[in-house]
Amino acid sequence: MSIPKSPHKILTLFGTRPEVIKLAPVIRELEGRPQIFRTINVASGQHAELFHPFVRLFDIRIDHNLEIMRENQTPNQVCARVLSEFEPILAQQEPDLLLVQGDTTTAMAGALTAFHRRIPVGHVEAGLRSGNVLSPYPEEMNRRLITRLATYHFAATEHNRETLLQEGIAADSIFVTGNPVVDSLNAILARKPRLPRIEEILSSTSGMKRIVLTTHRRESFGEIMEGNLRVLRRFVERHDGVALIFPVHLNPAVVEKAKSILSEHPRIHLTSPLGYEEFVFLLSQAWLIVSDSGGVQEEAPTLGKPLLILRENTERPEAIQSGVARLVGGDPLRLEEMLEEAIGDESWITKVGKTENPFGCGDSGKRICQILESLVTGPAWKGHGRTQTNAD
Ligand code: UD1
Ligand code: UDP
Repeated sequence: MSIPKSPHKILTLFGTRPEVIKLAPVIRELEGRPQIFRTINVASGQHAELFHPFVRLFDIRIDHNLEIMRENQTPNQVCARVLSEFEPILAQQEPDLLLVQGDTTTAMAGALTAFHRRIPVGHVEAGLRSGNVLSPYPEEMNRRLITRLATYHFAATEHNRETLLQEGIAADSIFVTGNPVVDSLNAILARKPRLPRIEEILSSTSGMKRIVLTTHRRESFGEIMEGNLRVLRRFVERHDGVALIFPVHLNPAVVEKAKSILSEHPRIHLTSPLGYEEFVFLLSQAWLIVSDSGGVQEEAPTLGKPLLILRENTERPEAIQSGVARLVGGDPLRLEEMLEEAIGDESWITKVGKTENPFGCGDSGKRICQILESLVTGPAWKGHGRTQTNAD
């Protein structure tokens, strides 16, 4: 195959596990077209231990790592470090486009750095809104800012596209592509690896109703998270046939509460964060998922597993409309009621089945790549400098 001298350079920046999971299918597709694209993959290093297993699993080449993680870092520290460490990479690489995903501080600060250098930004998972800038915090503001900074918006759903249109984003810069999380989830479900750590947990909870929990959102830190964990412990204590499995996020604020509230119960299993294959298999064996995660809301429909969303709102109403998810709200007592309802009348739990995933069918990586190809090879493409000022 002959490779032209200067394929279009796409630089992708990511720093946490959801960004890897959702950008891996796009990077793979871009790298499958070396005559059109040259990829530069940059890790911000916002996360370390939580991040590397995902990069290895999806076999992503990292060209630069900004290594910005510090213990208990604040969003401002993440932002400041990305701005200062990323600029020299952009200056050196001069990419044709920066790709970012979602709503992390890595994505927001990366988009701002690129904007300052007049490099167009493509935003994967554009158009999510909870309607409350304080929840999820600071993600809701991050995603709004990225929308203003981005040139191209890859929306997962029609609803996300509508949201962007209502905010005045030009229709021809929005593309509905599905969410590449579905591509990654399907790829993982097609594998059948041995997972000793999970097999051990499953065998010790065999025959029980397994609740799989994840929680790590900053707006829940303090009373709400503490209250939710206490409710879950009480629920397990009250019901002999229930087990709780909680892969604990590495944020010290979460680790501390998990250990102090949930330790020392034979049917409560606290684990370190799980690899993607392990976690997805565990979810598939759950009776109920309880989570404040964004990605888990997108995975539940494919897995057909009921989900209680530990949040006051959701930017993914499609998960609720599909019948798979229910919103708990910010009151731990409401969680208690919903858990009791679920076990008292299992009709919702048993009714939830695998449904068509509203977030895509597993071809989003390919679709985003095809759109990028038509953009960079199209007449409007000017390389450096913004081709349009959609949000001005
Ligand atoms: C970040 C994202 C959130 C995403 C989550 C994915 C922002 C604002 N938030 O939240 O949207 O859902 O990542 O998991 O970007 N830590 C480690 N090792 C790691 C990772 C984290 O020790 O590998 C600890 C560190 O003490 C770190 C802390 O966790 O300071 C918090 O990490 P940070 O990236 O600031 O925010 P998250 O709450 O993880
Ligand atoms: N996940 C994982 N191992 C875990 C917990 C979560 O692989 O122990 C996956 C999960 O399937 C989802 C993603 O990580 O795809 C979500 O990450 P997180 O909840 O940290 O971030 P969010 O999606 O809320 O931004």
